[in-house]
Amino acid sequence: MSFAIAIMAAGKGTRLKSKRPKVLHEIGGKPLLLHVVSAALKVVPASDIYVIIGHQAEQVRAVVAPTGVRLVEQVEQRGTGHAIQAAAAAVAAYDNLLVLSGDVPLLRTETILRVRDFHLAEQAAMTVLTATPADPTGYGRVARVIAGGDVPAQLETSAVARIIEQKALSGTEQQLREINTGIYAFRTAPLLAHLGELETNNAHGELYLTDMAALLVKAKERVVALRAEDTAELSGATEVLGANTIAEMMLLDRALRHAMCARLMAQGVTIFQPETVVIDPGVRVGPDTVLEPFTQLLGSTVMGERCRVRSYSVLENTTVGDGVTVRQGCIVEDSEIGSDVILGPYAHLRPGSRIGQGAHIGNFVELKNVQFGVGSKAGHLAYLGDAVIGSGVNIGAGTILCNYDGVQKHQTTIGDEVFIGSDSVLVAPVSIGKGAYVAAASCVTQSVPEDALAVGRARQVNKEGWAAKRRAMSARKKN
Ligand code: UD1
Ligand code: CA
Repeated sequence: MSFAIAIMAAGKGTRLKSKRPKVLHEIGGKPLLLHVVSAALKVVPASDIYVIIGHQAEQVRAVVAPTGVRLVEQVEQRGTGHAIQAAAAAVAAYDNLLVLSGDVPLLRTETILRVRDFHLAEQAAMTVLTATPADPTGYGRVARVIAGGDVPAQLETSAVARIIEQKALSGTEQQLREINTGIYAFRTAPLLAHLGELETNNAHGELYLTDMAALLVKAKERVVALRAEDTAELSGATEVLGANTIAEMMLLDRALRHAMCARLMAQGVTIFQPETVVIDPGVRVGPDTVLEPFTQLLGSTVMGERCRVRSYSVLENTTVGDGVTVRQGCIVEDSEIGSDVILGPYAHLRPGSRIGQGAHIGNFVELKNVQFGVGSKAGHLAYLGDAVIGSGVNIGAGTILCNYDGVQKHQTTIGDEVFIGSDSVLVAPVSIGKGAYVAAASCVTQSVPEDALAVGRARQVNKEGWAAKRRAMSARKKN
């Protein structure tokens, strides 16, 4: 039984009041549509996924194309039924079609698989994933042939009579609480046989995919519903929520963050005030690591065990070893931090910083593209860019590596056990040999041999009595 997945992502997103395409708005650190594509990619290969694009198609194409999925253009956007009509030819050769919405981003792979398996087991022509949220306002409602709620549970049937959009609900239908999530499975043959029968006689004058339920029932085909299930981290009703407004997106973002924290805590990570902590879905953290309030772990960050990330630190696409302390207010991007390192407070590690085991990068130290050796220290107020720094090195307060001459970047090399005195300026390209000393406040423009002392500053002159004479002169002028 072959399956294709179609993801509807062509709509205008009128309710959003944004110039950006709806499906490119971000939650959990990535566009809505990429959440849906990621879940779909765990069900079928990219070559069996068809993303339907239309409104601002080029922007959407640019974001989704790198995943390798296929793209189908719905040139005019005349409703969800019309979107599937646009994809009909592309998916005709598959036995079955799973339909997902680009604006239902928390949908889990497990749920897609449940829909698929239920659809096959029920031998249905159409399977609708449903939920029963506290407030069903705005969603289409599912009328089962015999619904639960008012009847004993054992009488409830999976068979669906039709789906009714919010605006079309009649008096008694207002009571229906089971919503259409916009996620479906179809047997392709009956879908395509009846897809042309959709009509525009509704509030928006669009072709509604939801009308396929009644059309298929009329054609004596089997249409069934399956409810989304709760998990420990996420309720079924939250998982299938749509994102039509910014406020709805932020609710989903929060649900996603909350689920992420819950998962990590279940794996032995301590998270204080998790409602303030922002963790992207791809992040991994080892047990006994502690995250303080208002920390962010973003992108593909991976942290080891027994670390502590103190408040207001943000780590992005960074690999962190075990036993690392990230003190308050650090920003770390695209870097690698060895075990037992101490960062901050207020350290800024820009892309390409590789910090050796046990090193210390302290207050207001900025690094960019620096290999920083085992046990080396830069405690205070330094800029280190484009450098290879050995082990056991001490970088004094206020050290600056001048890596840029206004046109090109140049490299600095500092050997093992070097001591750079405070307030030194090293003008790259330059190299400091193993075990050498640079005197405080030096301006180093030539390489320093191993074990040498470089003094690059004017010799101090003391003028005896100068200050006293000056004060006496000033006093005379005043009188
Ligand atoms: C739809 C369902 C509704 C369901 C809800 C669940 C219909 C008519 N209604 O309503 O029953 O409760 O989803 O979230 O289907 N799209 C296209 N081309 C179009 C129009 C829409 O690709 O011409 C895409 C949109 O980009 C979006 C998805 O289809 O990703 C759903 O469209 P949207 O307008 O958001 O439908 P809802 O009003 O939410
Ligand atoms: Ca929607």
